[in-house]
This record gives sequence, structure tokens and C-alpha cells, in this order.
Amino acid sequence: MPQKIILLPGDGIGPEVTEAAVSVLTYVANKFNVDISTKEKLFGGVSYDKFGTPLTQETLQACYDSDAVLLGAVGGYKWETLPHHLKPEAALLKLRKSLGLFTNIRPARVYPALIDSSSLKKEVIKGTDFIVFRELTGGIYFGEPRGYDEDKGWNTMIYTKFEIERITRMAFEAASKRKHVVTSVDKANVLECSQFWRKVVEEVANNYPTIELKNMYVDNAAMQIVRDPKQFDVILTSNLFGDIISDISGMITGSLGMLPSASLGSSYALYEPVHGSAPDICGQNIANPIASIASVAMMFEHTFDMHKAAELIFNAIERTLDEGYRTADIGNEENNIVGTTEMTKIIIQKFEEIYNEQALGVFTL
Ligand SMILES: NC(=O)c1ccc[n+]([C@@H]2O[C@H](COP(=O)([O-])OP(=O)(O)OC[C@H]3O[C@@H](n4cnc5c(N)ncnc54)[C@H](O)[C@@H]3O)[C@@H](O)[C@H]2O)c1
Repeated sequence: MPQKIILLPGDGIGPEVTEAAVSVLTYVANKFNVDISTKEKLFGGVSYDKFGTPLTQETLQACYDSDAVLLGAVGGYKWETLPHHLKPEAALLKLRKSLGLFTNIRPARVYPALIDSSSLKKEVIKGTDFIVFRELTGGIYFGEPRGYDEDKGWNTMIYTKFEIERITRMAFEAASKRKHVVTSVDKANVLECSQFWRKVVEEVANNYPTIELKNMYVDNAAMQIVRDPKQFDVILTSNLFGDIISDISGMITGSLGMLPSASLGSSYALYEPVHGSAPDICGQNIANPIASIASVAMMFEHTFDMHKAAELIFNAIERTLDEGYRTADIGNEENNIVGTTEMTKIIIQKFEEIYNEQALGVFTL
């Protein structure tokens, strides 16, 4: 049975970066003998234009029938004045919720060639490689009661044992394939909800004796990420704290065009670049495809459980950058500036080179 991948290129530069990512996906799948089938669906503004809704039932059903979804980006000036429920961005929230994607994963990885573009000093950022697991469907963003009146506003931070356990297990499983350290970020010195979070995380940790668990308050974590990011391996945190922590973690490592993400649930997986539809550069073949290509690497890692293939894609991106190739958003006059399609071709070439150098045999699932 082929792995069924649904493609939702979306709006703006979404189709350009998705096309790039699919070239890499197809190439690598072929190299590693993974049988995949891809099917493209309209999603976002382009779906609204054709069907009067940014997410049709048919597209949603196709995602339910898939092994993984690869999304480009949605939104743009054209759809900004639509009522909220018809906006492309609302469709993205609905899709994530419908697929029960309770974990958002964002790697913070520094490419040596781009070290100078980090806002941190070279010696601080060099060697940074960690990953943030953010709970995505619970916590204060969804808790009831919520509201405001003339005199006050209120929200409820609530987590069930089940919600904490399932993401904690995912984070520990990931750490078991990395450097064996999980840092759970909370605010247990102030919030009862965090005290409960910490208790449940510690209970789950007992099942993973080879993995070190560190607990850290969120204010300290924000400080530590910019002070000494190398100390982290896997950061595990709730929805609100993760929203902030994952943005800090992403941006210390470079440009928006470089940041991939994965959102995972019990049954479904969605991979997408962190950036938006960039209407200002759409249709010019200058968008940086790396975030989208790196999202494919995450698909190999998390959906196909093929760590070697994922690592080779990251290595190919790294070598491309080391050799001076850049898209305009990350380049300067000293670099070899290339467009979206050329960048993609070079990354595939570098993948092939590394694959041959390592004299890899045939890999299977
Ligand atoms: N996940 C998503 O689909 C998503 C995320 C964020 C924003 N959006 C939507 O995208 C639209 C534009 O939003 P925005 O301008 O705030 O954010 P954006 O991420 O689209 O763009 C911000 C800036 O970064 C640049 N940029 C982004 N991705 C790039 C890439 N791959 N290569 C080169 N440059 C890149 C853009 O040119 C722009 O200057 C809005 O409609 C917004 O709602 C969608």
C-alpha cells in the first residue's frame, strides 16, 4: 500500500514551495524505495474562490484518508475582508482541529553557513540543535469558561491527565532517538495547572529511565534559550508557553524561510513551513523552499519513521548553504543567489552526492 500524501499548496508562494518540496519528497522516496501517492486539493483562498469555502468537506475527507498532509501556506490581501469563518486562516485552524493534531513540533537547528544571520553571537548559537514539542489543542486557548464583561476578562487554563500524557510520551520517544534529555517547561511556582502538568510528566518519565527529565519555569526557559541554547535537546511544553517558546527558538536560528514544522495527532500528521503565503514575492520564483523541504524531512522522520532519509535531507540543505547557494531572503552579494526551482535542484543534487558518498544501500521502511 502506498503512503497517501495529500498536498494542500494553498495561496501565494504556497504552490511554489510545495512544488519544490514534492520534488524532494518524490526523489527521496524513490531513492529509499518508499511507495508514495500524492493527490492535490484546493485549500484556503483558492478554495474559497472556486467553492465559496476555504475548506470543503471533500478536501477534509481526503485528509482523513491520508497518511500525511503537506501544506504550503494560506491567506493574502484578496481574502482579508471576508467574514472570519470564510477566511483562509480560519480553514487552517479548522483543519488542525478536525485532524486532532495535538502536538506541534518545531526544530531549532542552526546551519553553520547561516550562523552570522542569527541575532545571537556565533559562539552562543553554534551547535544549537533542539526541538520544541508544543501542546496544540488544549490549555488556556481552549479552556472554558472564557469571556469578558465591562469590568473583567477571564480565561481558563486546564489540562487533563490524558492530554499531558500523550504529548509527554511523544516528546520522550523523540528524545530517545536524540540526546536523551527532555526539558519540561511550566510555571509550577505559580499555577496549579502547571503543578499538575509537572506531576504527570514525572509519572510518564518513570517509564523512560534512560532519559533525563529537567523541569524549568517558562521565564527561565525564555532566558536560557537566548543565553545558552545548546543545553536543550527536546523541550516539552503547553499551548500558551509553547506558542512563545517556539517562536523564540525558531528565530534565533535564522530566517522565516528556513523554519519547518510538523503537527501530529493520534491518527493524522500535517507538515508545513512556519511562514505564511508571502503575497509580496509570490509568482516570482524567488521564495525560499527550504522550510517546505525541511518539512518533508520531518515527514520522513515522524510519519515514515525513516531517520536516515530525514538526516540526509537536512545534510543536503546544509551542504547547499555551505557551498554558498542562497535564495534572496537569506543571501548577500557574496553568495550565489538562486531562485526557488534552482535551489530545489541543487538540494536534490547535494542529496545524491551525499547518498553516494555514504555508499548507502537500499533502505526500506
Ligand atoms: N501557516 C500559514 O499558512 C500562515 C502563517 C502565517 C501567515 N499566514 C498568512 O500569510 C499572509 C501573509 O502574512 P505575513 O506577510 O504576515 O507573513 P509571511 O510569512 O507570509 O511573510 C512575512 C515576510 O517574510 C517573507 N517570507 C515568508 N516566507 C518566505 C519564503 N519562503 N521565502 C522568502 N521570503 C519569505 C515575506 O516575503 C514577507 O516579507 C497573511 O494572509 C497571513 O494571514 C499564513
